[in-house]
Amino acid sequence: MTVEHPDYTPLVNAALARLGLDAKTRLLAGQDLWSLPALPEIGLESLVMSDGPVGVRGVAWSADDPSLALPSPTALAATWDPELARQAGRVLAQEAHRKGVHVLLAPTVNLHRSPLGGRHFESYSEDPLLTARIGTGYVTGVQESGVAATAKHFVANDAETERFTVDNRVSQRALRELYLAPFEEIIAAAHPWALMSAYNGVNGSTMSEHRDLQVGVLREEWGYDGVVVSDWLAARDTLAAIEGGLDVAMPGPLTVFGPALAAAVRDGRVAEETVDTAVRHVLLLTARLGLLDGAAPVVPEDGRPAPLDGRAVAREIAARSVVLLRNQNRILPLDPAALRSVALIGRAARDARFLGGGSATVYPTRVVSPLEGLREALPDDVALTYATGADPDDQLAVATEGFTLRAVLRDAHGTVLAEQPLTLGRIRWMDSALPGGVDYDALESVEIIGTFTPRDSGTHHFGTGGTGSYRLTVNGTVVYDGADRDGGDPMEVLTGRPVPRGTIDLEAARTVEVSLLHRKPKVSYGPIRGVTFGLSHRDPERDDDQLIEDAVAAASTAGTAIVVVATTERVESEGFDRSDLRLPGRQDELVARVAAANPRTVVVVNAGAPVEMPWREDVAAVLLTWFPGQEGGAALADVLLGLSEPGGRLPTTWPARLEDAPVSRVTPEGGVLPYDEGIFIGYRAWQNHSAAPAYPFGHGLGYTDWTYETIKAHRDTDHTVSVRIEVRNTGARTGREVVQVYLAPAGTHQGIERPERWLAGFASVTAAPGGSAVAEITLPQRGFQIWDDTTASWTTVPGRYTVHAGHGLDTLPLATTVDVTA
Ligand code: BGC
Repeated sequence: MTVEHPDYTPLVNAALARLGLDAKTRLLAGQDLWSLPALPEIGLESLVMSDGPVGVRGVAWSADDPSLALPSPTALAATWDPELARQAGRVLAQEAHRKGVHVLLAPTVNLHRSPLGGRHFESYSEDPLLTARIGTGYVTGVQESGVAATAKHFVANDAETERFTVDNRVSQRALRELYLAPFEEIIAAAHPWALMSAYNGVNGSTMSEHRDLQVGVLREEWGYDGVVVSDWLAARDTLAAIEGGLDVAMPGPLTVFGPALAAAVRDGRVAEETVDTAVRHVLLLTARLGLLDGAAPVVPEDGRPAPLDGRAVAREIAARSVVLLRNQNRILPLDPAALRSVALIGRAARDARFLGGGSATVYPTRVVSPLEGLREALPDDVALTYATGADPDDQLAVATEGFTLRAVLRDAHGTVLAEQPLTLGRIRWMDSALPGGVDYDALESVEIIGTFTPRDSGTHHFGTGGTGSYRLTVNGTVVYDGADRDGGDPMEVLTGRPVPRGTIDLEAARTVEVSLLHRKPKVSYGPIRGVTFGLSHRDPERDDDQLIEDAVAAASTAGTAIVVVATTERVESEGFDRSDLRLPGRQDELVARVAAANPRTVVVVNAGAPVEMPWREDVAAVLLTWFPGQEGGAALADVLLGLSEPGGRLPTTWPARLEDAPVSRVTPEGGVLPYDEGIFIGYRAWQNHSAAPAYPFGHGLGYTDWTYETIKAHRDTDHTVSVRIEVRNTGARTGREVVQVYLAPAGTHQGIERPERWLAGFASVTAAPGGSAVAEITLPQRGFQIWDDTTASWTTVPGRYTVHAGHGLDTLPLATTVDVTA
């Protein structure tokens, strides 16, 4: 579907001409956390933005306003399927329309530079081409449905440590060939209507003020005409930000734009034309969205694609993203007719880890756990047992299971102003959006109150999240009464990581009363005002040795053991990086013990980013399910039982041990993080490295076999290269193959430092048993170019190239050559 863009210039200019300076500068500043103000004088409606990659949260960040949760970005990238990414985009646009959201704050197209990056799960790949292709599909799907996508975070926001201030020192070549490349291609191919500037700095300037990149490269070189919005709270200096090419400062109402910008113009410190340029960008965006009077939106309501079934798309992406890393004796797919019994093991098998933490968090109405998925899918005569095995999460989590809660809002006299049922023990209200329209100034206290019916007897742990002054009462006993106030990172204030406050002994199935009274519930962080806190809980600690013994006993008597291992919320999240790649708790020991007890042990790795798997050669099969979204358990059952083929291929190299990873540093020194490795990240670095990874980039098995039969390549007149690859399905079932093409210099290339091989194109094909399929892949000219620092331009490196084709970086059975001239 090609979307025609009308020429909005006359309309935008006319609207601009009718705006005074104050109105213009107001339009460049958030009026609250998520929106820009309406300007009725020019018939402009308020524009609403919302996170984020896996779902559309909406302006209420709460479980009471549920959202569809798709698999996380690493999962989407593992499908290597831009068309599927496009469907994800369409589904999210539907969600955005449902929630009154105009701008989706996604996709995240930063790179997997280090496996320690806290938001690794939230971006696609270590490879710029794969990132660009998935991002293009996603943006296309969102925007052809009439919602703006926001490619973020521009640029080099590849880790979280000191993220507001870190200055990443990146060579021009690495910037161009790696970090800017996905933005460049996505802008050229899919024209995202918005871009988010990063928190970090690059080579000495913080990104929201980076004129060279935000004006020089983005506007002047690439001709970008969308809006550049700050990351939340990243715009800190009126002059530097507006001169540096930032259009919109978020969130509001207090920002460095708005009145501060108007004053700067009046003082003569900023030219009004500079403001006008930014306002034009915003007006163009609102015209595209149909929010500006007289502007027909790019996609009218009746021009949107046919609605998709969001749950079905979530399930399909999840199944297609599963990477089968190992499958000894073809233990998978399991044959339901031959299965007697299955022992399902692991905390995450019951309490699914379906997404990563931070601004990407959404609250779905349902989450299908592996236990539920398998229970539903297995025939009735297969005995399914469940054992926790090892509990990786030794921390408090937001109160949910067994709790029935509501919020009570009171004024200074204790009079109830409003009540609201809660699906979770978590409150996040902005000052302007209190339940029941309660006036923020009148609000004095908020109580989370209700009942709790424990699953297990024993010592239960309770805690609070967010800063403030609390009284916590459980079963008539005051567990905590006190106050604290701190908080640095806004995520800390907004998400409120739980703090333990006390314990109490409770009996299984005996319902007790709970109350968490917040006496000073109003918080502010910069311009953000609101109420954000929560009640957290943890089940009684169980004897870990006993848990493992129980799981081993269950595994040893079952026909097949399936162990689900996972990271926790405190391992993978926005706001902090990881310190190691180990599975938390005693999960490694659990897998080793179960595998020793049952040779038919299948391990399901439920993590958004690489983890060490020291037992990987000792188990029958290893499946990687990423953070699979709300339908993950159903998709896992589809894959285990062979209804779906595990279609995923690694979008990132999987190290055996952290210390093997060629690039891992995420901690700045003196505020500076040097990207000393230059263009050698991911597989580009592993190729010249002493250690071998556990699994290479592109790896992933299917349920059938493929032979690579023929390859032909020729150079086209437009400097691209066309490659034709014929493959045959030599296995016993219909399958899907991701045909990958890598380029390598053949002979000398003027001594230019380049990776050994690099991904230059890919395509998926399907074929029935015995059938053949042809992949036609066009390799872009960029594949043959490098960024030349001396001329500050792209240069084709002439010479002979080997064109390799195959199943993954380590399995490239076909090759041909192509000669390229400058
Ligand atoms: C994140 C952005 C996000 C924004 C709004 C920031 O902390 O870095 O990705 O869009 O918050 O939630």
